[in-house]
Amino acid sequence: MTSRGKVILITGASSGIGEGTASELASRGYQLSLTGRNLERLNGVKDKCIQEGLKEDQILVVQGDMCSDEDVERIVKQTVDFFGSIYGLVNNAGIPCPGNMQTLKMSTFDKVMNLNLRSVIYITKLLIPYLIETKGCIVNVSSVASLVSTDYNPIYSMAKAGLDKFTSNLAADLAKHQIRVNAVNPGVIITPLYDTLGYTLEQVENASRIGHAMCRHGEMAEVTKAIAFLISDDSSFITGVRLPIDGGRHIMVKSEIL
Ligand SMILES: NC(=O)c1ccc[n+]([C@@H]2O[C@H](COP(=O)([O-])OP(=O)(O)OC[C@H]3O[C@@H](n4cnc5c(N)ncnc54)[C@H](OP(=O)(O)O)[C@@H]3O)[C@@H](O)[C@H]2O)c1
Repeated sequence: MTSRGKVILITGASSGIGEGTASELASRGYQLSLTGRNLERLNGVKDKCIQEGLKEDQILVVQGDMCSDEDVERIVKQTVDFFGSIYGLVNNAGIPCPGNMQTLKMSTFDKVMNLNLRSVIYITKLLIPYLIETKGCIVNVSSVASLVSTDYNPIYSMAKAGLDKFTSNLAADLAKHQIRVNAVNPGVIITPLYDTLGYTLEQVENASRIGHAMCRHGEMAEVTKAIAFLISDDSSFITGVRLPIDGGRHIMVKSEIL
């Protein structure tokens, strides 16, 4: 089966990797349900998808906060009502959690776990009956932070490690239905996420040179094409993997040690 007619729901579609994934999947002919809180930006992404070749009635925009159970239920219902079926879910919405254990506020811990883990589990649970019907697939946007130890972002790293485990456990559970569940684990990709953290482009580029074995940050397309591959039939026998897209960040040891 080609991408024609397949419906993909993308969370965090208003910005960054979610926005890039929407454009990539639109160019491949998937129908899209785009969700996020910022309606203006979502409508801008919808326009870009139309430029990529989708028709107005092949894209749905649903505004909602993934940390609200009512909103998550509405996002699922509106998508099913509009398209009649769902083939794929890209669990992309996520936020960082800078700071070490001494500076951590428990309210921040709750916020990060609610969005990066709990909301993923809830929307996935609601969509499973529809994915069983279509023999669909799920791609979770994790992070290389789950694969390395970090002293400046430990809670984010833990949430993403939980997401990795959710990915493999769910893959084992749903394989009998021919549903595939995989994760991508990006290194640094320049997105508005770093603006919200207050980093300049120069700071991010310098950190990327030191932090990645390939001495550079990743490009958006290097992640979005991998997500598209994991959704496509080209990966039809791949499930339960976490795929680092990180220029070798996960295999690095600190060079100062030697
Ligand atoms: N950029 C990187 O270097 C990098 C590396 C590894 C992993 N990642 C992961 O990639 C994913 C996307 O990150 P990004 O870099 O593209 O960041 P971004 O540009 O800041 O995008 C984050 C997205 O999440 C959405 N979001 C945030 N809080 C939300 C909420 N409460 N409810 C619904 N949507 C919410 C935002 O939409 P609204 O503001 O409209 O709600 C936005 O669309 C995240 O899971 C992140 O952990 C990023």
